[in-house]
Amino acid sequence: MSRTIEAIIKHTGATSEKKSASARSQTMKAIRIHKYGGPEVLHYEDAPRPQPQAGEVLVRVHAAGVNPIDWKVREGHMKDFWPHKFPLILGWDLSGVVEELGRGVSRFKIGDEVYSIPDPTRNGAYADYIVVRESELALKPNSLHHIRAAAVPLAALTAWQSLFDTAQLQPGQRVLIHAGSGGVGHFAVQLAKWKGAYVFATASTKNQDLLRELGVDKAIDYTQQRFEDVARNIDIVLDTIGGETQERSWSVLKKGGVLVSLVQPPSEEKAKELGVRAAFVAGHPSGEQLAEIAKIIDAGQLAPVIDRILPLSEVRRAHELSKSGHTHGKIVLRISNGNGTMERKQS
Ligand SMILES: NC(=O)c1ccc[n+]([C@@H]2O[C@H](COP(=O)([O-])OP(=O)(O)OC[C@H]3O[C@@H](n4cnc5c(N)ncnc54)[C@H](OP(=O)(O)O)[C@@H]3O)[C@@H](O)[C@H]2O)c1
Repeated sequence: MSRTIEAIIKHTGATSEKKSASARSQTMKAIRIHKYGGPEVLHYEDAPRPQPQAGEVLVRVHAAGVNPIDWKVREGHMKDFWPHKFPLILGWDLSGVVEELGRGVSRFKIGDEVYSIPDPTRNGAYADYIVVRESELALKPNSLHHIRAAAVPLAALTAWQSLFDTAQLQPGQRVLIHAGSGGVGHFAVQLAKWKGAYVFATASTKNQDLLRELGVDKAIDYTQQRFEDVARNIDIVLDTIGGETQERSWSVLKKGGVLVSLVQPPSEEKAKELGVRAAFVAGHPSGEQLAEIAKIIDAGQLAPVIDRILPLSEVRRAHELSKSGHTHGKIVLRISNGNGTMERKQS
């Protein structure tokens, strides 16, 4: 399946090299969908190269992080929430280089190396270029190359906004992070430790070492133990799983604690009955918070874990892996080979 996309990339890449400079400036290559569906609706094709408007920046994409939201949008799960139009470019996690500035942009200059979560209601980053609002951008961490930087924005910002903005995590608090080995979870573990929390985290047997390497104080193997037998008197639960895991999480909270979910709004009635707080977090773009996160990364206190790096030609496989729900850390798509043309070869 992915070989088909690779073959098309090889073919059209050869053709596009013959195009005039002006034709090249009008179009770019992108992975787009024209309808909701399985991985087969992902198509590598020409798309109009976007133009930055006032307050916007054109970024040449070097790498795009893959997140569950990518296949959820592709399958149509978000259609009642986000007004997407077809054809749509997926991928809302990127690292790249500033190519052009819209009117009034003052914080960035051409050539800056940046990373971002762009607005998920607009076109994403599986493309040569993307237009991003200035407020959604930050300089990428100096210590990470683009591939690793692209693994950071969406998952790390979601962890940051959940633990710090919503749950108001304080040093010394006890935190339970479900799926501490996942994209959001592995950043949440590190950020909670950075803030001085005592951290419990769940994952299956194969990821127990990873949890400990990330700094987890009590790693819980959810295939062998019930987390509520180990984690008690918890101030903050970060629920990245929902369903039965969320339901069982109420019992571990101490009075005044908070259950923060990323997947399903927890019951307000239940929270009231137990004297705790319930919150649902929808992560949002913030260049300002990404700049803070870059400082922590450059100080050596936070790092992305990469499950695998795939060429763009394997985007369908990347979606299948993400949907399996059992990758660790992040999957990243390599978009540019560094000379301004889309990645064509498999690593
Ligand atoms: N609301 C928002 O703004 C927002 C933002 C980001 C993500 N999300 C959502 O949050 C969820 C997690 O996202 P993600 O990027 O972290 O996903 P992910 O990287 O795909 O998570 C994979 C991890 O989940 C672990 N896992 C699977 N089942 C588990 C279970 N029953 N208990 C504990 N761990 C389990 C796996 O560990 P094992 O292989 O060891 O099982 C794996 O390492 C997704 O549904 C995503 O859409 C929401």
